[in-house]
Amino acid sequence: MTAAEIQFDTDGNLHHFLTIEGLGRDTLLQILDMAESFIDVGHREIKKVPLLRGKTVVNLFFESSTRTRTTFELAAKRLSADVINLNPQRLSTSKGETVLDTVKNLEAMHTDLFVVRDSHSGAAFLVAQHVPPYVSIINGGDGRHEHPTQAMLDVFTIRQHRPDFQNLRVAIVGDILHSRVARSQIHALNILGAAEIRVIGPNTLLPTEVERLGVHVYNDMKLGLKDVDIVIMLRLQLERMQGSLIASAQEYFNLYGLTQDKLEYAKPDALVMHPGPINRGLEIASDVADGPNSVILSQVTNGIAVRMSVMAMLLGGQSTRRQD
Ligand code: CP
Repeated sequence: MTAAEIQFDTDGNLHHFLTIEGLGRDTLLQILDMAESFIDVGHREIKKVPLLRGKTVVNLFFESSTRTRTTFELAAKRLSADVINLNPQRLSTSKGETVLDTVKNLEAMHTDLFVVRDSHSGAAFLVAQHVPPYVSIINGGDGRHEHPTQAMLDVFTIRQHRPDFQNLRVAIVGDILHSRVARSQIHALNILGAAEIRVIGPNTLLPTEVERLGVHVYNDMKLGLKDVDIVIMLRLQLERMQGSLIASAQEYFNLYGLTQDKLEYAKPDALVMHPGPINRGLEIASDVADGPNSVILSQVTNGIAVRMSVMAMLLGGQSTRRQD
């Protein structure tokens, strides 16, 4: 079974959330629509709904995270679930226990859902293959493969400002090669029917045959950003680079860093996005990151509602049967 197939239970309900690839438009729209209904919870004095009362969620992050881990924790708490955050340095994996044995032991404590982040592509899928049918897994980012909830919060943020995807031109800029976020975004934008998706970067940071994902390739910011509605900047994933794939940080910023001058090639009201963490002065100039076109912090806020939506679908019986 593939990661896309294992996500649905035998009744056709979404049971794990591992990958955007292979999902249908209806499933994505269902997640977005339910997230919409959760936005209001964040504005209430008591930011809680009882949907997942009595459920237990474990955040199992073997890689650093600020946004994903914290917004999953907040999302679970706003749904009234009990949440445990595990610090990998203090886990018994550091004494030789395998990740699967760690998961089995946490399962024995009646965990209902694990959010798994790991530097290895396929880690969340591996865990999903080994848990019993009453346990759900969400991929919180696996190596260079996918970061599905990040892509969902990105398309949610885009939809808030530009609901008509059929007329949407999107540029994704930078280190596409090492980016799980870019892969998930490309799948989500294609499924939702975006008019055009462009990737912009040096050839050393573009996967071979990236066009097969349904994108147009540009090496030049002036051409690639021309008249786009959305500019998504990516972090240079220096920790995943073997050898030197860019000449220097300064040259990279000169060619591919988003400055006000380069942003002028895009539409005047183009949205500037970045999944974070941002490297100011490397991928993006500070005045652009903090400027009027930027929705970078809205992406973070929206992450809570979108993650509430995904968890509610998996655990709260909110999922309708598979329609795709
Ligand atoms: N966007 C994202 O995954 O950020 P974190 O690494 O801080 O979770």
